[in-house]
Amino acid sequence: MDKLYIFDTTLRDGEQVPGCQLNTIEKIQVAKALETLGVDVIEAGFPISSPGDFNSVVEISKAVTWPAICALTRGIQKDIDVAVEALQHAKRKRIHTGLGTSDYHIKYKFNSTREEILERAVAATKYAKKHVEDVEFYCEDAGRTDNEYLARVVEAVIKAGATVVNIPDTTGYCLPDEFGAKIRYLMEHVDGIHNAIISVHCHNDLGMATANAIAGIINGARQAEVTVNGIGERAGNTALEEVVMALNCHKHLGIETNINTSKIYSTSRMVSGLMNMPVQPNKAIVGRNAFAHSSGIHQDGVLKNIQTYEIMDPKAVGIDENSILLTARSGRAALKHRLSILGVELDNGKLDAVYAKFLDLADRKKEIHDDDLLMLAGVEHRENRHIKLEYLQVTSGKGVRAVASIGLNIAGERFEAAASGNGPVDAAIKAMKQIIKRQMTLQEFTIQAINRGSDDVGKVHMQILYDHKLYYGFGANTDIVVASLEAYIDAINKFKID
Ligand code: KIV
Ligand code: ZN
Repeated sequence: MDKLYIFDTTLRDGEQVPGCQLNTIEKIQVAKALETLGVDVIEAGFPISSPGDFNSVVEISKAVTWPAICALTRGIQKDIDVAVEALQHAKRKRIHTGLGTSDYHIKYKFNSTREEILERAVAATKYAKKHVEDVEFYCEDAGRTDNEYLARVVEAVIKAGATVVNIPDTTGYCLPDEFGAKIRYLMEHVDGIHNAIISVHCHNDLGMATANAIAGIINGARQAEVTVNGIGERAGNTALEEVVMALNCHKHLGIETNINTSKIYSTSRMVSGLMNMPVQPNKAIVGRNAFAHSSGIHQDGVLKNIQTYEIMDPKAVGIDENSILLTARSGRAALKHRLSILGVELDNGKLDAVYAKFLDLADRKKEIHDDDLLMLAGVEHRENRHIKLEYLQVTSGKGVRAVASIGLNIAGERFEAAASGNGPVDAAIKAMKQIIKRQMTLQEFTIQAINRGSDDVGKVHMQILYDHKLYYGFGANTDIVVASLEAYIDAINKFKID
């Protein structure tokens, strides 16, 4: 079997999703989960872009042992210097430098020429190589770069010392045949191609990211750049779990990864929970419905022989269909065990607090599912915020105007207000705005039930525009009006106020 290196960029490209930024402690948690999952490289950030990113690369370098830690740079000396400094504690380090190589980038972004970009690519690679042994060069927008010119760049940077060359489909433009042919062209036309690993980095704008990555791998790429749950800007990046399981299901391709697939589900839940980024129910491999057969014909077939309608065992990705549902009678140990399967490790103090909330929810809901537990762990996480909702009372219904009265605790002091509105959520938000008088507007508002049943917990995701920036808020409660107000307050708690 050939080995495919898994380069995880959840903490760099994935984290560019507006409103889903993680703090350093959360990034370390994700990095450790990625190490346990078995990724080969963790792209930990873009150090020159912000002090927060710089610090995350430093701390992840200290916290992680086995995977190489990679830092992104532009093809600029200053960027490379800062990345080298951020990587100083990494046991194995990689610099990921590069430039746009498509004519769109050369002409409009750099106002330059193909020859000049070629020279700059070589110079950046040589400069990075003076500081670290492992240098990856990216040809940004390679998907739309002329193959002949791309081959010249790839050949030149390999000669300059690049150990890995990344061929990104930055705009998610390519079709699988076209992208596969691009990799094959490079394999056949670049002198010295076997002195470096060719990497694929596909975006999902046309829903082709995984198909393109697999086409690239079939044609010779031996590193895939991926994110957990396929998160990333716009339509996202290639999903780690999809590439890994596609290779797993198609063993005839003769390519394997180092991924411990039984950790896929817990890592997916952890990333989704920390980023407050829900996984769509029909998401391949990790979506709630990925293994749920609902039609009678399918159920009948699966009961007779699972292989009739299932191409992989849910257990292989860490989904335990027979997992015990927790109820009000479950103890702390069962809760701790289940949370750890979901990738959440709590010390005893936090466990007690989550357990108290668990019992409270279990009184209101018959069965507690995994998503409920992650929600409870997340609420605990947000507990020591500046502004808290103390109480909310709403009157609403058909033929009456909704009225809400609320109490907020702001840094230990209680504030109260009441307002009417078009509906209960509108009334509650208007009452809150009487206390918090800032110019903020609700841009996006989604409500989801977690599992099923009228006693279910509702999850609310909101995006609030404040001071030209979008802030992301999340709330969860069996009362959707409370969940909505908590989501709004969660976003306000993140406002950067000078
Ligand atoms: O999509 C892309 O081209 C990138 C590069 C910076 C590697 O993310
Ligand atoms: Zn990208």
